[in-house]
Amino acid sequence: MLNVNNSNICRKLSYCLRLIQLSISDYVELLLKSLFITGTDTDVGKTYVTAGLAVSLRKMNVDVGIMKPFAAGTAQKTGFKSEDVEILARAAHVNDPEMLLNPQFFPIAASPYTALKNLKIKPNVKLVLNRFKKLSKLHSMLLIEGMGGIMTPILKNYFVTDLIKDMKIETIIVTRTKVGTVNHTIMTCKMCEKYKIPVKGIIINNFDADGYRVKELKRDLEDLTTFPVLGSIPFIDDMSDASLYRVFKKNLDFKFLQS
Ligand SMILES: Nc1ncnc2c1ncn2[C@@H]1O[C@H](COP(=O)(O)OP(=O)(O)OP(=O)(O)O)[C@@H](O)[C@H]1O
Ligand SMILES: [Mg+2]
Repeated sequence: MLNVNNSNICRKLSYCLRLIQLSISDYVELLLKSLFITGTDTDVGKTYVTAGLAVSLRKMNVDVGIMKPFAAGTAQKTGFKSEDVEILARAAHVNDPEMLLNPQFFPIAASPYTALKNLKIKPNVKLVLNRFKKLSKLHSMLLIEGMGGIMTPILKNYFVTDLIKDMKIETIIVTRTKVGTVNHTIMTCKMCEKYKIPVKGIIINNFDADGYRVKELKRDLEDLTTFPVLGSIPFIDDMSDASLYRVFKKNLDFKFLQS
């Protein structure tokens, strides 16, 4: 009789522990709220927007880390190989090693997939996910800058969408005002929906001299997609902390971080 009761208690206790363990890890994941900053294309302003977010979060006393999983281009002679990583690390004031901030750098201005084809350097997704996990433990939240757009190929059947899915984080879409952007933004949003990637919203990087008026673009994008426009960033000519913080605080409603 006593034995039966004991084994029942043990079963119940182990069930409770499993429940507690699950909720603790869920809670930690919720707290992290890392964000993947993607865009409608290359050169749309992902680095500028990520840098502005990093400075703003730091000024709000958030321990923010940054990551550029795959970077490409001409390696810088000093500092980090990737100029994007240099800008982001400076904005976030992080001292993490390059192997965590940017696990793979390809000396070619192209996608990781093209690097594989042209240079025979295999994009190492497992390594990137491993380093992402390590970096996540060092900061309260991470801002991860993507490469190119949402369907930039990494491997034959593995795109930026797959990387975001594997990281299990939310995304922000950076778009611009140049004519043609509505088409690119809708396609980006549709792919996020197809891959079931949670989208926090869209940030309009209003740095083109001509193009749509922000107010009208915001109206149309909110009408045509299911995601909110979180704000618009004007042309930035001063990348100092003070300037970035001023611009981002004025033009972005940071309440989106709380939801
Ligand atoms: N808000 C802005 N104000 C002024 N210039 C900007 C702004 N946003 C982008 N730019 C200009 O556009 C260039 C490309 O921006 P950025 O490097 O942020 O693009 P990206 O999306 O990160 O590109 P990549 O795909 O190569 O990472 C910058 O070097 C800068 O000259
Ligand atoms: Mg960039």
